Amino acid sequence: MVSRVIPVDPFDLVIFGATGDLARRKILPGLYRRFCDGQMPPEARIIGAARTEQDSAAFAAQVAEAVETFLPPGKRDAEGLRAFQERLSYVAVDATGEAGWTELKEAMRDDVVQAFYFSVAPSLFGALAERLHKFGIARSDARIVVEKPFGRDLKSARELNATLAAHFDETQIYRIDHYLGKETVQNLMAVRFGNTLFEPLWNAQYVDHVQITVAEEVGVGGRGAYYDRSGAMRDMVQNPLMQLLCLTAMEPPAHFEPSAVRDEKLKVIRALDPVAPEHIVRGQYRGGADPSYLEDVENDESLTESFIAMKLHIANWRWNGTPFYLRTGKRMKARKSEIVVHFKKTPHSIFDADAGSRSNVLSIRLQPDEGIDLRVTIKEPGPGGMRLIDVPLDMSFADALGPEAADVPDAYERLIMDVIRGNQTLFMRGDEVEAAWAWTDPIIQDWQRRADRPVPYAAGGTGPEEAAILMHRDDRRWREI
Ligand code: BG6
Repeated sequence: MVSRVIPVDPFDLVIFGATGDLARRKILPGLYRRFCDGQMPPEARIIGAARTEQDSAAFAAQVAEAVETFLPPGKRDAEGLRAFQERLSYVAVDATGEAGWTELKEAMRDDVVQAFYFSVAPSLFGALAERLHKFGIARSDARIVVEKPFGRDLKSARELNATLAAHFDETQIYRIDHYLGKETVQNLMAVRFGNTLFEPLWNAQYVDHVQITVAEEVGVGGRGAYYDRSGAMRDMVQNPLMQLLCLTAMEPPAHFEPSAVRDEKLKVIRALDPVAPEHIVRGQYRGGADPSYLEDVENDESLTESFIAMKLHIANWRWNGTPFYLRTGKRMKARKSEIVVHFKKTPHSIFDADAGSRSNVLSIRLQPDEGIDLRVTIKEPGPGGMRLIDVPLDMSFADALGPEAADVPDAYERLIMDVIRGNQTLFMRGDEVEAAWAWTDPIIQDWQRRADRPVPYAAGGTGPEEAAILMHRDDRRWREI
């Protein structure tokens, strides 16, 4: 496959929180990869900014260490790393004080794209935004990048939006959720809107139900304190899963362009029915030989869920009567994220009784083994009469497009380059985030009111039995994890 790397304009990218975990794990290694792929112009500069007093050489050494730790050997080389280090500099900045801001201003140029990545706690967003203006650093076309979680309820999300809006226009704000940067998520749109085949069937008349799963093998690990205050609902459902649901369910936008796509996503969130408690299953993993959730978060009393399964209804013409089942959990059997569209059974079988019960299934695999698979019914080859079997029309990117295609850029790499390009399509708008919280809040408040206790599930499995029952009640079953 021919690599089609499109270089971006020269830029200054300031990373606040440059010594923090996200910067080390994802942002800096991701930038290094884009640099090695030839996507960064020679004039690009990355300026690390954090409280730590250190010089640019020390920061460059930290970045080298992060690249070596978080990228596999095949994805790094010493020469590329040295060249990348030349693009780096560092300024010690006090986010809530005065120190370092004049130096930061001096380090920046007037004639290149300006972007500021707020890889810091949301409580610092306001202080950073204010100082970027007070010291005359941010231009009116500067871009700022903020991470999910964007708030922890509607009220805090509104406050954060207002804080940012006091200094930046919505067109300057890039709210990142890395799930939207995953290769297959964009392929979902290509499949839906680049083919005539699917769109006519993409509705309640032909779709029986949709399953969206994001299963992780890992537990909450070192993030126990954060996670225990969030849980699967805030951490995964309110945003990543909601975004996947929107892209699956939305009407075709008129253009593949930020406001058109975001308008359509917003309409889906606003059309979601409230969810009845009996349509939600919350779980907490129990460890076996490994620590259980309660040990991981060091809180015996925790009522926070590490697993959630739910059945949703979208109250509009297209989807009335087609349930969407969402499921996400930590410490599951495998790491697997997919969107699966189960089409309705054939209305009548002209073959034998068993053949009539078949249906087509389209699965969009986000990870691992990115690809798309459509199960269709054919006649089993051989002389045994009309015996039907289901076979996959399977398009694994790696098999269909060559090994290079399997080497898809990490979601962060793609999204950071979109910021530099000024393309907001894969970022959330403020009203989308608020609408998602407006739907989420009553659910969480109901659990709190009832002191709802998550049910236990065995680590390394498929989640609580109750989640399977949620499906069985509807005469359906979850896909294998
Ligand atoms: C993050 C969540 O958004 O996504 C984490 O906060 C989760 O809890 C992570 O582990 C999963 O991302 P990925 O790309 O590994 O599926």
